[in-house]
Amino acid sequence: MSKLRIGILVSGRGSNLQAIIDNVEKGSLNAEIAVVISDQAEAYSLERARKHGITAVHVSAKGYKGKREEYDAQLVRTLQERNVELVCLAGFMRIITPKLLAAYPNLVMNIHPALLPSFPGLHVQKAAIDHGVKFSGCTVHFVDEGMDTGPIIIQAVVPVLDSDTDDSLAERILKQEHKIYSKAIQLYAEGRLTIRGRRVLCRDASGRNDDFLRNP
Ligand code: GAR
Repeated sequence: MSKLRIGILVSGRGSNLQAIIDNVEKGSLNAEIAVVISDQAEAYSLERARKHGITAVHVSAKGYKGKREEYDAQLVRTLQERNVELVCLAGFMRIITPKLLAAYPNLVMNIHPALLPSFPGLHVQKAAIDHGVKFSGCTVHFVDEGMDTGPIIIQAVVPVLDSDTDDSLAERILKQEHKIYSKAIQLYAEGRLTIRGRRVLCRDASGRNDDFLRNP
C-alpha cells in the first residue's frame, strides 16, 4: 500500500514537526513527509527537516501583503508539485484562506495548544491560566474557514497547576501535542476518519485499543 504523502507547514522551532519525523522513522506513522514549507526563512524547522533528508522550502510572504489568497496559491503549487495528499499545520502562524482549503477540502489538519472551542487564537496558555480553568490541553482538528473552529479529531487533557507559569503549562501541553498529532494523521492514513457535521467519527473506535481517543 502506498504511503500517505503529507506536507507540513511551519513557522518556527518545529518540535511537532520533529515528533512527526520521529514517528515516521520509527514506523508508527505510516506516511511520507513529501515537503516541509516555512513562511520564515530562519525557522529551525527547515534545518530539522533537511537533517532528515526531507525537502524543505521557504515560501516567503514578502510581496504578498494584503494578498493572502495569492500567497496560498503559491503554497498550493508547492504542495501539488510534491503530490501532497494531506496538509498538516504545525505551528504555522498564518491564517489559511479558502484558496488552500479549496485545493485540499477537509484535508488540512492543525494542532492547537488548548481544548477547543475554549481559547482559540494566540497566547492561549496564558489565557487559560488567567481564566482560572483547571484543565487545558491540546486539540488536533480539521481546518475550516474560521479561526480554530474546524471539526475536532483528537484532544488531550492537561491539568493546570497552581504553580504553573505560561511556560510550564505550554511545556506539558507540548508533550501531549507530540503524541496526538501523529495519532490523528495515522487514523487518517488508515482511512478511519469520517466527518459528519461538526463531528469526526473514528471507524472501529469502540474497542479498548482506541481508549487513547478519549484519554491519550
Ligand atoms: C505549538 O504549541 C502549536 O500547538 C502552536 O504553536 C506551537 C508550535 O510549536 N500552534 C498554534 O498556536 C496555532 N494557532 P512547535 O514549532 O515546536 O511545533
